[in-house]
Amino acid sequence: MTDPIQQVVTILKQAQRLAVLTGAGVSKESGVPTFRDALEGLWARYDPQQLATPDAFQRNPKLVWDWYEYRRQMVRMAEPNPGHYALAALESYFPEMVVITQNVDDLHEQAGSSDVIHLHGNIAQSKCFANCQGVPTLIDVAELDTDETPPKCPHCGAYVRPDVVWFGEILPEDALLRAYHISEQADVMLVIGTSGMVTPAANLPEVAQYNGAPVIEVNPDTSMITRIASVKLDGPSGVMLPRLLEALRNDD
Ligand code: APR
Repeated sequence: MTDPIQQVVTILKQAQRLAVLTGAGVSKESGVPTFRDALEGLWARYDPQQLATPDAFQRNPKLVWDWYEYRRQMVRMAEPNPGHYALAALESYFPEMVVITQNVDDLHEQAGSSDVIHLHGNIAQSKCFANCQGVPTLIDVAELDTDETPPKCPHCGAYVRPDVVWFGEILPEDALLRAYHISEQADVMLVIGTSGMVTPAANLPEVAQYNGAPVIEVNPDTSMITRIASVKLDGPSGVMLPRLLEALRNDD
């Protein structure tokens, strides 16, 4: 039985256009809990799916804002892990490589990935709840002279909210359209650290496979993607991706 890493190297050697889909698992070793981890302490009693919705925000804007401030703090303290860096280094092996992420942190960019599509937004950014100046109406909270939580939009007075996609909301259209296009055109798709439970992101590996691209999964557990994966690297991305990069280098 060939070593799965070697199987992946054989597949990647044929690839020109590599599409990568990442989820919360790729940031886990950076200390950012995955979305479905039970959040510690103060937030343990809250179910993210009850906080990350427009209704929850309208019902209790301060609670939702404070939860995102808590998560922003964690993301600010997080550093890219060896998995992020190995993924960024993979770019030199492919004429085209795009990272499509469900994560709202910017650890891929910090690690050097040069083309990242954020399907679910960016937790470091805030926007007017009413998008009163257009979609999205980004607001630099640091420039607002207020300690109200949540702050109010300086243009229209609506609440300011995190620039992330909440349950029940549509994804940023340009990001989603490009992600579908990249998945259709890919000749290999690498899927890292996602449970594959949330669509439309979870549909992208099937789009790639339908168009003839083998799907490779990196995950210590099984996921909804595992059943369509040609090869699975069973382990944390912070370990498996550096090993994969090393094997590619040795195969040069
Ligand atoms: N390396 C790789 N994968 C890991 C690691 C690791 N070190 N640790 C955990 N995982 C895997 C888990 O096994 C799981 O399959 O990462 C996956 C995380 O799954 P979720 O917590 O469901 O996160 P994700 O798939 O990104 O969720 C998708 O759902 O809740 C919404 O908007 C939210 O973007 C999120 C989306």
